[in-house]
Order: sequence, then structure tokens, then C-alpha cells
Amino acid sequence: MGERPPVLVTRRLPAEALERVADRCEMTLYDGGGAMPRAHLLAEVAGKAGAITLLTDRVDDEFLDAAGPQLKIVANYAVGFDNIDVDACTRHGVPASNTPEVLTETTADTAFALMMAASRRIAEGDRFLRSREPWIWGPLMMLGQDVHHKTLGVVGFGRIGQALARRARGFSMRILYHDTFRPPAEVARELGAEYRDLDGLLAESDFVSLHTNLTPETRHLINADRLAAMKPTAVLVNTSRGPVIDEQALAAALAGGQIFAAGIDVFEREPEVHPDLLACENAVLIPHLGSATVETRLAMANLAADNLFAALDGERPPTLLNPQVWDR
Ligand code: GLV
Ligand code: GLV
Repeated sequence: MGERPPVLVTRRLPAEALERVADRCEMTLYDGGGAMPRAHLLAEVAGKAGAITLLTDRVDDEFLDAAGPQLKIVANYAVGFDNIDVDACTRHGVPASNTPEVLTETTADTAFALMMAASRRIAEGDRFLRSREPWIWGPLMMLGQDVHHKTLGVVGFGRIGQALARRARGFSMRILYHDTFRPPAEVARELGAEYRDLDGLLAESDFVSLHTNLTPETRHLINADRLAAMKPTAVLVNTSRGPVIDEQALAAALAGGQIFAAGIDVFEREPEVHPDLLACENAVLIPHLGSATVETRLAMANLAADNLFAALDGERPPTLLNPQVWDR
């Protein structure tokens, strides 16, 4: 069966999948708790046949040069791949893969939970009770905004955006979407989703949820002007990538009552959160938990391992990001 190929795993993953990797490969696991320090990452990837990387690892020319020509795959443990310079991987002839689909439903659940929590002031209410302030039920106490029968604007109408729209249908919501790619007509029809340009979507939506990739085009897609175009009763949700929103502008819009609330899972400079955002009672803030369930994190780890094994066996990785490397 040949030698066990040396592979790097940059953080502890769910045990069942990690055991699969350890069974087949000579595994170097970084178990330092946080992200692998850059110098350590570059030193450890040297000579490896494969690497399972995380969104906190930057995979670029420097990483690929440090790894060396025997590297057969970079298997990213995330659906988002803005940490990976895919063109650099292609130039180096290295397949790169991500973990789509297995986290679609879970991430849509997170976005819906943030819609509910932000509009109904769930986290704020929890903080209030724990503060031990005296209180009594009141007709005007902590009023939120309804979710049901409202208009949801989905920005980025891929798998996760569509899964969110399906949930919203169960709440009798009207669905608008914006994307540079038009979905197949039957998808839009099934979900009753209507296309809008971004400004139209922002002006009409009661809830706006972001599901784009992070690219130069989507960086600060939601800026001060776009926030000003939203309804004062609107709720903004982000489970995509932090830099899609100008965080400073969002904090100002929340503090100034320009929008009603926000539910935010991802931040511009993770793990930092803008102090002005932390000061906003009308922001529900969670630490990048979009796919964070027991089931989904195991499925992601197994898919990353499947991609790794395929490449090591000379087979096409199932969720390849740069098919040009394979098909040429
Ligand atoms: C997590 O953010 C992912 O992209 O999977
Ligand atoms: C990601 O999986 C998306 O297409 O939304």
C-alpha cells in the first residue's frame, strides 16, 4: 500500500474524521488552541503531501513555496475560501477544495436564528434579566418587529441563501433576491423569489441577509450609503464574511436608529469585534458559529478528509475549487 503520506492538519477537528486521517496518513496536528502561527505553519507544511487548512490560515504563494512541489492538495475546512489564493494554487498545480453543501442547512438555520433573535430582542432580553433590574410585564416593554409576513431580501442567492428563503416561506415571508448570477427559473419560481437590483432590494426589505462570497467586489458591499437606503425598521443579518459590511458604518447606523437591529456572525477583523458594535444593544453578536453544530462540523471534517484522500490517491477531489488543475 506504499508509505503513509505526510499531511498537516492545522487545528483539532472532530475526532471521528481526525482518526480517519491518522489511520491513513502520517499526520502532523497543530493542537496549540488558536490559529497556527504563520512561521510555524510555513515550517510544518514543508514536505507535506497534503494539508487540511482552516479559514484562519492564509494559503498563498508563500505557503505553496514553503510546502514544496510534492504538495498534492489543500483541503480547506470551510465553504468560504477567501483565505485561499485559488489562482496561486492553480499556478502551483495544487488542487484546492472547500466544504460546500454539508453546511448549507445549518448555516441557513443560523441566519434564521439571527433574524429572530435580532428582531425580537432575544439576546437583549436575556442580558436585561441577568442584570437583575426590577421589571413587570408591560404593554410597551421591549417591543420588536414581526418576522412573519415580512419581506426578506437575500443578497447572494446560492445554496445557503436559497435554504434561508425556504425557511422564510414557512413564515409566510415574501422573498426578494440579488445576485450577479441568476438562479434557474424554477428555483426562483419554487421560492416565489423576485429579483431586485441591490438598491431596490435594500429599500424594500424588512430583513436583509448576506450570503455572498468575500471578493474585491463584495468588500464593504454594505456601506454607510447602503445602510441609509434601508428601512428604519429593517434588520440586517450577516453569516457570510465580516468585510462584506463596513463595521464602523453599521455601528453608526445601529446607534443612530437608521436600522432597527442586526444579527452578526462574522466580523471585519476576527477575532476582534468593533467596540462601537459591542456597545449597540440592538446588535446580536455571535462568534462565527454559522456551521457550528456537532453534526455539521463532523460532516465538514469528513468531506475535507475525502478531498484529501482522493488527491493522495490520484483521484479527483469531490469538491474541487480549481478544476483547471485536474482537467488540463
Ligand atoms: C465558515 O465560515 C465557512 O466558510 O465554512
Ligand atoms: C454556499 O454554499 C452558497 O452557495 O451559498
